Amino acid sequence: MCPMISETRPLIFVAGASGYIGGRLVPALEHARVPLRCLARDPDKLRSIVGPETEVVAGDVLDRGSLDQALRRVETAYYLVHLMSSSKDFENEDRRAATNFAAAAKAAGVARIVYLGGLGDDSDPHLSPHLRSRHEVGEILRDSGVETIEFRASAILGEGSLSYDMVKTLTERLPVMICPRWLSTPTQPIAVADVVSYLLKAKDLPKTGSRTYEIGGTDVVKYSDLIREYARQKGLHRVLIPVPVLSPWFSGLWLALVTPSRFEVGRHLVEGLKNPTVVRDRSSLNDFSIRPVGVSEAIRRAIAQANGRSG
Ligand SMILES: NC(=O)c1ccc[n+]([C@@H]2O[C@H](COP(=O)([O-])OP(=O)(O)OC[C@H]3O[C@@H](n4cnc5c(N)ncnc54)[C@H](OP(=O)(O)O)[C@@H]3O)[C@@H](O)[C@H]2O)c1
Repeated sequence: MCPMISETRPLIFVAGASGYIGGRLVPALEHARVPLRCLARDPDKLRSIVGPETEVVAGDVLDRGSLDQALRRVETAYYLVHLMSSSKDFENEDRRAATNFAAAAKAAGVARIVYLGGLGDDSDPHLSPHLRSRHEVGEILRDSGVETIEFRASAILGEGSLSYDMVKTLTERLPVMICPRWLSTPTQPIAVADVVSYLLKAKDLPKTGSRTYEIGGTDVVKYSDLIREYARQKGLHRVLIPVPVLSPWFSGLWLALVTPSRFEVGRHLVEGLKNPTVVRDRSSLNDFSIRPVGVSEAIRRAIAQANGRSG
């Protein structure tokens, strides 16, 4: 137990603190000076990353027993976990993980769960397994009876985000690209800083029951527009040649560009590119004062961050 955490103040809890989003939310919570506890499968690794006042506890969302103690005295629990990298049967595993987390949160008396999932139309019969699973996780968390704030986002733009890194690597390596139809799918990317702002604010929302917020930047674009905009800002001349059919070769190419550790997740993301991921419910703009930036600014910040300048 971290000596800096008082025994009485309610805690904020983060599952997925070592991940891309969790790794950006934790410093923001630390900056806000809230008592913070993070779950980690490898606590020593996480301890070396978080601030000295943040408590790190060992646990695994697939092990219900490890969650009961971890969630003790927690008021708001962030769920920023997916199991796409570790499991071939990720839909089943993510279902099991969310069921464990929901039951443990309910038993521990957690007041609110905040979850970040994916955009996409539930009524679309061709919704990818990845997006279907992200929505199912939200449903399981809500069904626990613990008030759940679910955010649904499309590609998150920021240095280190897998979807952004795929656009970046592809654009940098290939002067001429064969583009399958799904590069024309509409999407509404959001800058990572805006996602973190929504997650931070979610802990202070009035207690009026579970809600789902669709969040996105100001621009609805095609994936090919992201490639063009990245190329424009980097001063690269790129030729995109559209082809009518979905090309397994092209999917394979994207995947060949990601590191082996990110291969499984990348595969599921590429499958999901055929689904439109656009904000249809704009209630986030009423309930939050956050005004997300557009694609150009988000990419500008990501490039600045990669160059060691503050984005
Ligand atoms: N990044 C994006 O572009 C994007 C876009 C839209 C929505 N989202 C959503 O945002 C959420 C977070 O995504 P991310 O990009 O931050 O993912 P990520 O970087 O892959 O991180 C996943 C996190 O889950 C943890 N985890 C995996 N299996 C676990 C287990 N069995 N027990 C405990 N923790 C486990 C990992 O911890 P270990 O260090 O132990 O592996 C890691 O901290 C997801 O729900 C995702 O769908 C992300």
